Amino acid sequence: MPQFDFLVIGSGIAGLSYSLKLAQYFDERKQDVRIAVITKVRADETNTKYAQGGIAAVWSEDDSFQKHIEDTMVAGDFLNDRKVVEIVVTEAPQRISELIGYGTRFDKEHQGNEYDLAKEGGHSDHRILHFKDVTGAEIERALLESVARFPSIEIFTHYFAVDLITMHHLGQTVHRYDTHNQCFGAYVLNTKTDEVERFLAKTTMLATGGVGSIYQSTTNPTIATGDGIAMAYRAKAICKDMEFIQFHPTALYEPGKKPNFLISEAVRGFGGILRNKKGATFMENYDARLSLAPRDVVARSIDSEMKKYGDQHVYIDVTHCDYDKFVDHFPNITAYCKDKLGLDLRKDYIPVVPAQHYMCGGVRVNEHGQTNINYLYAAGECACTGLHGANRLASNSLLEAIVFGHRAYLKTIENYEAAKIPDAIPEWNDDKTTHPEELVLVSEITRELESIMSNYVGIVRTNRRLARAMGRLELIYKEHEELYRQSNVSLPVSELRNMIEVSYLIIKMAMARRENVGLHYNSDNVASK
Ligand code: FAD
Ligand code: SIN
Repeated sequence: MPQFDFLVIGSGIAGLSYSLKLAQYFDERKQDVRIAVITKVRADETNTKYAQGGIAAVWSEDDSFQKHIEDTMVAGDFLNDRKVVEIVVTEAPQRISELIGYGTRFDKEHQGNEYDLAKEGGHSDHRILHFKDVTGAEIERALLESVARFPSIEIFTHYFAVDLITMHHLGQTVHRYDTHNQCFGAYVLNTKTDEVERFLAKTTMLATGGVGSIYQSTTNPTIATGDGIAMAYRAKAICKDMEFIQFHPTALYEPGKKPNFLISEAVRGFGGILRNKKGATFMENYDARLSLAPRDVVARSIDSEMKKYGDQHVYIDVTHCDYDKFVDHFPNITAYCKDKLGLDLRKDYIPVVPAQHYMCGGVRVNEHGQTNINYLYAAGECACTGLHGANRLASNSLLEAIVFGHRAYLKTIENYEAAKIPDAIPEWNDDKTTHPEELVLVSEITRELESIMSNYVGIVRTNRRLARAMGRLELIYKEHEELYRQSNVSLPVSELRNMIEVSYLIIKMAMARRENVGLHYNSDNVASK
């Protein structure tokens, strides 16, 4: 018998919203089930918690689904799956109403009952629901509090999923395009006891978030090491669109700091203006939409402006904005700039620089969140649904996670009972030793990996840089595989293994993409889409 009915790897918006739906469903039917949610550190340490700007949905009478659909397609350079875009945009209001039902607060207009809808780059209308500039923390709080009301959900903190359990563990050979592969749960390291436990489950949901840690500069917290994508790829899941790495144009410039604090795109939506280091505006030289062009355009423009003058950063100027209103909307950003950099935003510009922010690709799923491995679902940032195409529109990520969390839940309850867990699944085999140099090697290889990805697989790529990245990656892959084979499983060694694997996928897919589209820009490519 499996230990759990459902295993959910990840406690961000995707994992928690999916778990909540399952728990509610079985609770209403008075059916006992066990839903395990595992998270590699604390429950709330997720990309979700750091989301600032908000969540996009058509909410006002002036706006329309059609406009949100077109904005999403334009941002994605029309590489998006239009059907998926239509699904996500039209289901958005219902899913967000559920978030509100779970107790999530969104800001309302002053003295009114209407939600205060912000605007961000690439959006043709005001449609971003937000809670100050800490929307993600508010959503995460509400979801965790709601989850706590259901005894069927057990949260295992400091549990690290090492590998998915599939037919390979029954001694069978399965290829990537076979249709009979099945997931039975995961091998999970309890990082407090250093023991690997089998978490067997009829259905497994991957909700493991992003990959930012592979870059020197990223807005992502350190948990973002691409584990779900790497585990799924090893288990023979199909991954897609990994070359589309989104760089947020405006992370705060704080040399040596990782992760980078974000200056939300909503700041530009509020009226913030980009200026170069000389204080001059420059977006008019790049795009008619100026500071509110989609992110790929703004990030490349800033990159080009910095290279032109050899500058380390540009600025956002909010000195002309109504200060009291600014502080009301952006209390966290104002306080951070003041406390860490001593900036007074009434007179000082904010120094900003692009930083890795989001993985548009990931584990390929269909419109029900199903991967090509039976009983393995994926949602949130680790999944590639087709919504984003070549570039994600601002504030569509939290939205995608709840829409696909819901759709995956519907498919799960339809299918899960048919799943059979074989008795013959082996325990984790760990007869290796602890390598004395392990930690030193891990930090050296990690630094090397970050430098390869940042220098050769950044905003602007070339054939030579990509080839160099692949050559160097192969060397560190070999070095690290040896370390992995010799050592007892541990969090740092496994995370680095995953980071190397997702980097490999990114470089491979970037080399294969011969036209410049969305976030993929290779100056040797002659063709643009
Ligand atoms: P996450 O929230 O990242 O959760 C991942 C979970 O998986 C964590 O619990 C982690 O512990 C767990 N996990 C990972 N690997 C393992 C493993 N091996 N074993 C066990 N557990 C594991 N998007 C928007 O739409 N609007 C915004 O305003 C916005 N602002 C952002 C601001 C910042 C600074 C950042 C970093 C992102 C922002 N995004 C925004 C993007 C958005 O926040 C994320 O894409 C989204 O929250 C991802 O949610 P998720 O549930 O997929 O993953
Ligand atoms: C931001 O607040 O700029 C982040 C929004 C997003 O990533 O969608």
